[in-house]
Amino acid sequence: MSLYSRITGTGSCLPPRRLSNADLAAELAVSGVLTSDDWIVERTGIRARHFAAADVCSSDLGLEAARQALQAANLQAQDIDLIIVATSTPDMVFPSTACILQKKLGAHGGAAFDVQAVCSGFIYALTVADALIKTGTATKALVIGAEVFSRLLDFKDRTTCVLFGDGAGAVVLEASDTPGILASDLHADGKHVGILCVPGHVSGGKVLGEPLLKMDGKAVFKLAVGVLDEAARAVLAKAGKVATDIDWLVPHQANIRIMQSAAKKLKLSMDKVIVTVDQHGNTSAASIPLALDGAVRNGKIKPGELLMLEGVGGGFTWGAVLLNM
Ligand code: ACO
Repeated sequence: MSLYSRITGTGSCLPPRRLSNADLAAELAVSGVLTSDDWIVERTGIRARHFAAADVCSSDLGLEAARQALQAANLQAQDIDLIIVATSTPDMVFPSTACILQKKLGAHGGAAFDVQAVCSGFIYALTVADALIKTGTATKALVIGAEVFSRLLDFKDRTTCVLFGDGAGAVVLEASDTPGILASDLHADGKHVGILCVPGHVSGGKVLGEPLLKMDGKAVFKLAVGVLDEAARAVLAKAGKVATDIDWLVPHQANIRIMQSAAKKLKLSMDKVIVTVDQHGNTSAASIPLALDGAVRNGKIKPGELLMLEGVGGGFTWGAVLLNM
């Protein structure tokens, strides 16, 4: 049994259809919904998002990200004994997107399941994988965040439809004798269910309720900044580290202003924050591994550096992971 788990490969995938703010504004204007590049950039930092084609599912985006992560880790699909997919947009009611992805990957026999913690999903999934590796239940895991959030958007609601996009990110997490993941911190408070939700479900062959995203943006903003700071401080304390030890903060890519506030509370310069929200908007559970993979591949994040990953999302859920790359 290994004492630690460590990220040995990363990957990501954005579907090819890219809409700039101007492209989206033009599409929305056709149905009388008015927005602008200026408004979206100023309030959110988002400049573009990617939308998957109608026949593309979360497992397809996750599959591409997983393949890249396996290649980076120098592993084959069959080496993997655990797949966890964090998603709020599963391919089917069941089986899990993780099982569907396992089949597409050509792997067999390892454990596979989904985690539903909305935009905190990747932090939850990574923490679960770390725990399963530390107990000897798994040795080589794929942890994937994959979403087709465009399917949940109400394109008549300009306060939400400009914020989200589709994509996937993945990491390979392997048992290791040297420390990778140093500490995790997970929380939820179900009393905030109503401020960010998709209030619909399937029953008797019909969709009941209204399965489109609803959000109280101001309430989400206020709550997010406070809980991210609590989680960040908790993982630092658990690992015996301080904020100045952090080489890179890799936050959930929801909104540049939430990221700026989180960095400010930790007294971290924005130079130490990985920001990709401008390129793909909020991709929910996919956003942290998308940001991580981008920064690993462009050489910003280097082996041995100390990373703080932090996420917050519907539920309300939140958490953070401190790790050595
Ligand atoms: N384009 C143009 N105008 C708009 C748009 C738009 N897309 N959306 C809203 N407006 C208008 C409003 O109608 C309002 O007009 P009014 O003053 O005439 O009434 C004005 O802009 C201001 O609207 P507010 O809702 O007050 O804007 P706010 O500054 O709060 O920004 C935002 C809204 C960006 C959603 C903000 O509340 C926010 O960042 N919240 C965090 C939510 C978030 O990031 N959620 C992501 C999911 S949760 C997660 O991942 C953690």
